Amino acid sequence: MDLEVLLAALSDLPIGQVRFLERIDSTNSEARRWIEKGAPDLALVVADEQTAGRGRQGRKWFTPPGAALAFSLVLRQAMVPSNDPDGQIIPALSMRLTALGALAVCQAIRKRYNLLTEIKWPNDVLLQRRKLAGVLVEAQWQGDQLQAAILGIGINIAPDSVPVAGGLLYPATCLQKALRRPVDRIALLHDVLDEILSWRNKINEPDFLNAWEALLAFKGEWMIVYENDPAGSASRQGIVLGLDDQGRLRLKDRSGEEFRLLTGELRLRPVAS
Ligand code: BTN
Repeated sequence: MDLEVLLAALSDLPIGQVRFLERIDSTNSEARRWIEKGAPDLALVVADEQTAGRGRQGRKWFTPPGAALAFSLVLRQAMVPSNDPDGQIIPALSMRLTALGALAVCQAIRKRYNLLTEIKWPNDVLLQRRKLAGVLVEAQWQGDQLQAAILGIGINIAPDSVPVAGGLLYPATCLQKALRRPVDRIALLHDVLDEILSWRNKINEPDFLNAWEALLAFKGEWMIVYENDPAGSASRQGIVLGLDDQGRLRLKDRSGEEFRLLTGELRLRPVAS
């Protein structure tokens, strides 16, 4: 992978500017630094290797050289609020952008490889019930003004990108294992970006919610949901019903009562039988 090849492959997409790094701490961190220096809307950071890749809830994201697809896209437009006095809008926007990333990955993989993947609410892409990709949306603030959102996506491509099972909260897999052939990372990047671009202005429309819900994993299954880290918070059990019109996960507990999850800091686990 190099910048010239990337630019040529993405030339038909209205991407802002592209930075390619052989090695970086985190593409989300690089995007953050770039925003401070004026990165335009749809500025793209791609790295071959991340030395301090971030996942959600402070977890690490493993990106060894040449084995994964790791990139961050700067989204400046359509940042509806300029501030968020009630603390309601940003979490909802962040959830929709997270879903935008996950939906784009699923649809690109479906179109390019005819492989079915699912979204483990809110941000994981699963292939055969194993984690294939993750999405990390971060907000960039200037004082109390939202400057931009950073949509970071990591996709496991080759076996080296799959972390060893011991330290994982969820079993992982990679695309090449499922396809049994090499994967062109740049072609996949192109298709994921294409999907993001086609959905980005529709994230508040019913079509977007419907497409997201159609890919929701564990529908009709009993799950344990944790409000924070599974190690340290109370859990509740519910059968997954789907999404509501805000993109919240709808579940029903054993007494038949429906409850909804809004925050992105939740974990899902199948209920042991
Ligand atoms: C998760 O599943 O917890 C989210 C993982 C997100 C990883 C991507 S890789 C590109 C971007 N840069 C980062 O440091 N993280 C995201």
